Amino acid sequence: MPSVYIKTYGCQMNERDSEAVAAQLVAKGYTLAQSPDAADVVLLNTCSVRDLAEQKALNKMKNVIGTARSERRDQVVGFLGCMAQSRGQELIDRLPDVDLVLGTQKFHRAAEYLDAILAGRRQKVVDVDVEQGSEAAIREHLLHGAAKKSVTAFVSIMQGCNQHCTFCIVPSTRGEERSRSIPGIVAECRELAGQGVSEITLLGQIVTSFGKRDLPVKDGKSAFVQLLEAVHEIDGLERIRFTSPHPKGYGDDLVQAYEHLPKLCESAHIPVQSGSDRLLKLMHRGYTRERFLGIISKLRRARPSIGLSTDIIVGFPGETEEDFEQTLSLVREVEFDQAYIFKYSPRRDTPAASMQDQLPTEVKEDRNARLLEAVNTLAASRYEALVGSQMQILVEGPSRKNPARMTGRSRCNKIVLFDGSDRHRGRLMDVRITRAGSFTLYGDPAIVNL
Ligand code: 5AD
Repeated sequence: MPSVYIKTYGCQMNERDSEAVAAQLVAKGYTLAQSPDAADVVLLNTCSVRDLAEQKALNKMKNVIGTARSERRDQVVGFLGCMAQSRGQELIDRLPDVDLVLGTQKFHRAAEYLDAILAGRRQKVVDVDVEQGSEAAIREHLLHGAAKKSVTAFVSIMQGCNQHCTFCIVPSTRGEERSRSIPGIVAECRELAGQGVSEITLLGQIVTSFGKRDLPVKDGKSAFVQLLEAVHEIDGLERIRFTSPHPKGYGDDLVQAYEHLPKLCESAHIPVQSGSDRLLKLMHRGYTRERFLGIISKLRRARPSIGLSTDIIVGFPGETEEDFEQTLSLVREVEFDQAYIFKYSPRRDTPAASMQDQLPTEVKEDRNARLLEAVNTLAASRYEALVGSQMQILVEGPSRKNPARMTGRSRCNKIVLFDGSDRHRGRLMDVRITRAGSFTLYGDPAIVNL
């Protein structure tokens, strides 16, 4: 049976899509290869959010093709996902050895197309069409992964985004918002819990808009909160997370969900993008700095130990030093536990790409460095402040860097390492934090668990 190597670029949604493709292929008898060299099929699941991500995947593909050619190996190669969607046939025009270009609504057709190509029935396949119902097609899981059973799982609840932020390519790579049904999602989560998964992360490009058009607000609760409540009912499931929300989706119903749903982990990744109202408006974000800060204080009031992270763009067209300082001051005010900083990258067919006053690379780099410094300093002191505290972690497996250590995650989404063994995998355990490293905590389970 053919072997397949899949490499994923970008966000958790992409990881989830790759997992579903892998599971689909494994069910058909394919084996999973650990490197592209030994594989019959190489698939790159791509990201388009910034130019750098696209360049990485293009270079990787050139390498893969070059190696296969020099070793005279016959290999089927394909692009999947966001860049496949936005560039389509252009990818084959550029790299004629590419056999398959599969868009974001077509992941579930991967096995069928690969079978046809491998059997010589088709030569090249480009399929980037819209497909009705594709939001419900990402269902298969690879729970027995490379080594052992999975403790955590991602569940895709919706696809697409209608927000149209002026910098963002996602509406064109992922399409219009389409949500799955609550019963369909609950059935998938229940099955996962039945197979030993303790923690589920609900995924979508804008999860707070889940079901907006299909499900009316009920007892003051949005469709997304109704979904959280339904998933919360599942026996055996211990923890629920979600990503990515939009700040404007943090109504009081969602803040209250943190109070009355104990399985909902006290952690939130809320992309702010900028601290300047002027820029938030140019970005078409739909909230002000004040509204964002209001959400943060409500969440902290609801769950004081909540872990908060964000995404920020520096160097958006026309960003002045003053705008940037507003972002710096917001970061200082909120004290995020983690912030992912992106230098603005013009994306094709987005309004911001043709705005006046695109900033030079040096300015973007300078602001990136200054913001990073502020974020890291603040985060370091927040991590340091946790030393001495006790927290619950879910043990996920051996640490990648040092397999003698086990790694777990706290409810507030901190990675916690401890000296343990495989018998701890999958356990919820209490640890005392003994030391803080860079975005990592070290814990000692000895005193609290025997
Ligand atoms: N340039 C830089 N960063 C971007 N992001 C989205 N589009 C762009 C862009 N054109 C960032 C945003 C988003 C994260 C996933 O990527 O901060 O939240």
